[in-house]
Formats: sequence, structure tokens, C-alpha cells
Amino acid sequence: MADNKAEDNLAQLQALDRAHHLHPFTDPNALRAAPPFMIEHAEGCYVTGQNIRLLDAMAGLGCVNIGYGRKELAAAAADAMERLCYYHSFAAVSNPYAAPLAAKIAEKSPSHMNKVFFANSGSEANETLIKLVRLYWRRKNKPSKKIIISRDYAYHGSTIATTLLNGNKAMIDDFGLEVGKDVTHATAPFWYRLGGDMSPEEFGLAAARDIEAKILEAGADNVAAFFGEPIQGTLGAVVPPASYWPEVERICRKHDVLLVTDEVVTGFGRTGHWFAQETFGFKADMMALAKGLSSAYLPISAAVISDEVAEVIEGAEAVLQHGFTTTGHPVTAAVALRNIQVLEDEGLVDRIRDDVGPYFTKILKSLESHPLVGEARVCGLMAGIELVRDKATRTQYPLELGICEHIGQACLVRGLIVRPVGNALVLCPPFIISHAEIDFIGNVLKEALDDVHNALQQG
Ligand SMILES: Cc1ncc(COP(=O)(O)O)c(C=O)c1O
Repeated sequence: MADNKAEDNLAQLQALDRAHHLHPFTDPNALRAAPPFMIEHAEGCYVTGQNIRLLDAMAGLGCVNIGYGRKELAAAAADAMERLCYYHSFAAVSNPYAAPLAAKIAEKSPSHMNKVFFANSGSEANETLIKLVRLYWRRKNKPSKKIIISRDYAYHGSTIATTLLNGNKAMIDDFGLEVGKDVTHATAPFWYRLGGDMSPEEFGLAAARDIEAKILEAGADNVAAFFGEPIQGTLGAVVPPASYWPEVERICRKHDVLLVTDEVVTGFGRTGHWFAQETFGFKADMMALAKGLSSAYLPISAAVISDEVAEVIEGAEAVLQHGFTTTGHPVTAAVALRNIQVLEDEGLVDRIRDDVGPYFTKILKSLESHPLVGEARVCGLMAGIELVRDKATRTQYPLELGICEHIGQACLVRGLIVRPVGNALVLCPPFIISHAEIDFIGNVLKEALDDVHNALQQG
């Protein structure tokens, strides 16, 4: 009886969802073909839905870094909710959670970054930075500096301005948007696909110098900023060659172009340092943070700016004409503070650098001997497994064959969530992942690759 009830309830929820819920980044045909999969519970590294328990090697969307189901975060939310469920931060008002959170972010950030603006999503943090870039140059009496250089295959969000920075053409075309004269795209530092005969280091320099070419083409007096994700997640977790970021920084400084790093995914430890700026050895002028700030227990993001940028923006003694109703929300700030405390108390960032990161690298790198794997790119606990048809020429299977999706599906039926992105499988597991769970990930990936490889062999 009880089981029937649960099934009835599931069917009812699915029917409601199909009738009324417009899903993000979802093919409506998929929803017409099958009801939505209902995730009902999550704990540690595992999510459970429809009586199926799955190891979530994506930590949701690369965000639940401290793992699911932490009672201390629930308690922090409940306490803050009872004490101060809401107040705004406009017109010089603050609260006992937003102030210490801003200070904590400044403490953790590279020492030259000490001012924080709060928003609700990664898109809003980047949108805020786009506006602050413009404001900065206007306040420096250089209003012609408007052009933002982004990169092919970039992903910075879903608002209109951030969409224009993205490298996904469909996201722009579907909404009748045009990239226009204020955005230009440089090449992605994707050595495996674009590096040709160059060594990774040579290609890293060449990719950075494409940014310089774009600056010179537009005229440095017209270029405001370069925006880039330290690791391009939506390109299949592309980890740039070590030569890339220091050269990008050198070029930005040389041409007086602001360097903006989108650390929405990499911020708060994913690469084994608190911020990927430290991992890759560069200093940005501005940084976007989101997912790992609260481990996505509640929506909160931050736009962090350098002391020099803050001085220009605040020095004008004019109102900052920007903000959201829930900027600096006390409850989300309380949860983010508690999340950072968990990262600190449990030494989770050091653990990635010294222990699980190297182990994760070792296990995933061992897959490079598989005939379907061209390269396993790993940095900390972020990885992309690039698929290949012919290793010698690095040609890939046509994307229409959906090889990556088939492998993702073969992982799913074995109890593992990974994310097929284009021609790569992306993994971003929670920071609390154990060696045994990493072994499980490696074994399942190998079996799933074998399955699909065998099917391809049989035609
Ligand atoms: C690098 C990067 N920037 C920005 C965003 C947008 O963040 P949000 O979905 O919170 O708006 C994402 C989301 O995945 C991202 O990966």
C-alpha cells in the first residue's frame, strides 16, 4: 500500500512538473518523451531519486562543494531566518551576516582584493562586473574604453549582457541578440583541439597573444576588459597550459585593460587553492564568485574588486546605480559564512591540493590508455575527459552520434553522475569525496567507455 502511495505521489509530481515547470537548458522533446527525473534526497556525495542512489561526481552543477545534507548549514539558515529574515543593503544599511561575510571573502581573496558586492547568481556577479568595468573607465575619464574581450566557447551566464560574452551561438541567436561592437571573442586556450604541432607551452602563449591581437585590432583606447574563466567548464573543463594566464596578465597590464576572472566554478577551492588565480599564478582586477561561496545551499554570489578599482569607483563620491533587492541577504550570507567555516575547519582546500586532487588525477589519467580517451585534463577536483576517434590525428566522432551522452548514460545506469559537455565528460565531485569513491568513479568510467567502444566496434 505504502509503495503504491509513493508511486502515485511521484506520478502526480511528474504530471504537475510537466504541465507547469519551464525547465532551464532542457530540450522539451526530452520532457515529452519521458517524465522528469525527481531527485528527492541527498547526503554526502550521493543523490537519491525514484529509489535510485547515485554518486554525484558533478556536485550538482559543480557547486555543492562541501557535500549534501550538512546539518550545520541548515542550522545556520534557521538561526538567521529567525533573527533577521530579511533586510536590504541599499543606502548604507548592513546586517550582522553580510558584513562579516564580505570581510571573510576579502580575507580569503588575494591580498589586493578587498571589496565585495553581493548578488544572487554567477550571472548576476558577472553582470555586475560588466557594469563596474564600464563605471571604472568612465570615472577614469576614459569612456571610450568599452569593448570587452571574451573567448570562444566561454560561459559567463544567462542574463543578456553575460550571454553576449558567451561562446554559444544558439544562446545568442535564439533571443535575437547580436554580439555588436562592444564584445569580441579571442581564441580558447584549448591545446588538445587547437594546438596543432605546438607544445602546450607554445600554444598557451599563442592563445594569450590572440587577446593582444584583438586589443590591437580594436585599439587599446577602446578596450575595457578581458573576461575569462580560469578553466573553461563548458568547453569540457579545458585546463589552459601553464604559460597562458601569466601571459594574459602581462598583455592586459601592457595595454591598460582590466583583467576579470570568472571564478564562479573555480572559486573557494576547486583547483586546490582558494582561488584559481593562485593556482595559475596571476592577479586579476575583478573576480566573480558564486557556486562554492555557499556550496549552493542558498543562492548567493559576489563580485570582488581590487583596491585600485574600488578606489576609483568609490572615490567619485557618486551613488552606485546598481543593486538587487536581495543583495547582502542575511540568511544567504549566514549560510555562506558557515560554508566557508566548514571548508576551513575540515581543511578541505588543502585536502584537494595534497591528497584527493593528486589521487583523482592519477585515477583519471590512467584512462588515457583507453582507445576512446584522447586526453584526461585534471586540475584539483575538476576534470574533463576528451573523447577521440583517432588518437594520432585527434579527430573526434561527429557530435550528432552522441557518443559522450551514451557514455554518460552508461555511467548513470551504474550509479554515477558525470556531465557530457560537447565532446568531453566533465567531473566536479564534492570536496569530501573519498579515495574509495574516486576508485568507483574510475572503474565505472572504464566500464562505460568499454561498453560504448564495443558498441562502436560492432557498428
Ligand atoms: C564559469 C561560469 N560563470 C557563470 C556561470 C553562471 O552562474 P549562474 O548559473 O549561477 O548564473 C556559470 C554557471 O555554470 C559558470 O560556470
